[in-house]
Amino acid sequence: MEKITNSVCNVVIDKSYRNFNEALSIFHNKINYNINDIYDEILIISDQNVYNNVVDELVESIKAKFIYEYIVMPGENSKCLDVYEQIMNYCVKINLSRKSVIIAVGGGVVGDLAGYIASTYMRGIDVIQVPTSLLAQVDSSIGGKTGINLGKVKNIIGSFYQPKLTYINVDALKSLPQNEFISGMAEVIKYSIIYDYEFLDYLIENSEAILNRDNECLYYIVKKCASIKVEVVEKDEKEGGLRKILNFGHTFGHGVEKLCNISHGDAVNIGMNMAFKLALDEKLILNDYYEKFIKVSNLFNLPLNFKSDTNDYYEDFDNDSFKECSLDKDEDILINEILNIMKSDKKNSFGKINLVLPVKLGEVKIIDNIEEEKILHIIRKCKNA
Ligand SMILES: NC(=O)c1ccc[n+]([C@@H]2O[C@H](COP(=O)([O-])OP(=O)(O)OC[C@H]3O[C@@H](n4cnc5c(N)ncnc54)[C@H](O)[C@@H]3O)[C@@H](O)[C@H]2O)c1
Repeated sequence: MEKITNSVCNVVIDKSYRNFNEALSIFHNKINYNINDIYDEILIISDQNVYNNVVDELVESIKAKFIYEYIVMPGENSKCLDVYEQIMNYCVKINLSRKSVIIAVGGGVVGDLAGYIASTYMRGIDVIQVPTSLLAQVDSSIGGKTGINLGKVKNIIGSFYQPKLTYINVDALKSLPQNEFISGMAEVIKYSIIYDYEFLDYLIENSEAILNRDNECLYYIVKKCASIKVEVVEKDEKEGGLRKILNFGHTFGHGVEKLCNISHGDAVNIGMNMAFKLALDEKLILNDYYEKFIKVSNLFNLPLNFKSDTNDYYEDFDNDSFKECSLDKDEDILINEILNIMKSDKKNSFGKINLVLPVKLGEVKIIDNIEEEKILHIIRKCKNA
């Protein structure tokens, strides 16, 4: 077990759950405590897939007298007010107190939901994040962002609430479906572009072993990304400035994700491609660097462009005028709609789109004065290209 800690985050990275109690004791300044010496009740929140694959091993390692469990359906739909209310009622029913703890075991969905419940139940009780997807291990379980969706509006209800501990067992990634693993790889690549150029070389050189989920490689990449995230969060906990670099690829990506029915990882990679193309147009980077990004994307089977299959995005769009448009106008409408989604990103302010663009090897900058026409041009270039 290794600790990655600073004044804001307490993260442990490990290859099993065996040291869970030891880690917990350390962060409570105790020695050899069991979880029952620290908390009166324990509630695990997880989803059905994770429950089937991971939870037993964790529960065995925790060695608690008794653990409550609340298992939600896998998927984004569980991050909603209904499920929030059901779990809150359950917390009341089982008498969770201010001395109780919620353990979130799962991907980003469970982490965000359970984190928000912990931050609002009795004005806040302890939460421990036990991330089990690659995305959650390298990103969502660290840094204290919690939240649920309001209808189709993502993460609009939420809080900044730091977990008492984030316990990462990279071995849990072994049961993660391959598409989810690849999706998480987009976030891993992101870290190399925003913070650590040598890490990009590592990913290229070790792509095969990573895809085969070699233990040492998994440990290395998760530790590298978690360390970067912890460092960025300590410098800017509430996302006033620096933390925005973690959104690299996300501003462009969100529009594509929402309208084209693709995975988050695919959308982030397409978004990073758009940011690279814009940076090239603006002469912020050289082509060699862009070529390297294309190479790493190909190695990990991540897409660079999106398809505008109109049927895919009709379903999700409830604006009647949009539905009535003739087919030859569809493409422009889609591209403008992606821009509109980018404009409505909650990370923008004063009506300006904050774009994170690569400016040097392993370095990005937040730029908010790119003209809309240039952004539209880039979106067009990445459609069916
Ligand atoms: N809080 C943050 O800072 C932050 C950052 C990025 C993303 N997010 C949020 O994270 C969510 C996406 O997270 P995600 O990609 O982990 O999705 P997810 O939680 O839906 O997990 C993906 C799928 O993998 C399954 N799974 C997870 N771990 C598994 C394992 N070890 N074995 C087998 N199956 C496993 C889950 O059941 C699910 O079906 C989104 O809601 C997003 O808004 C939050």
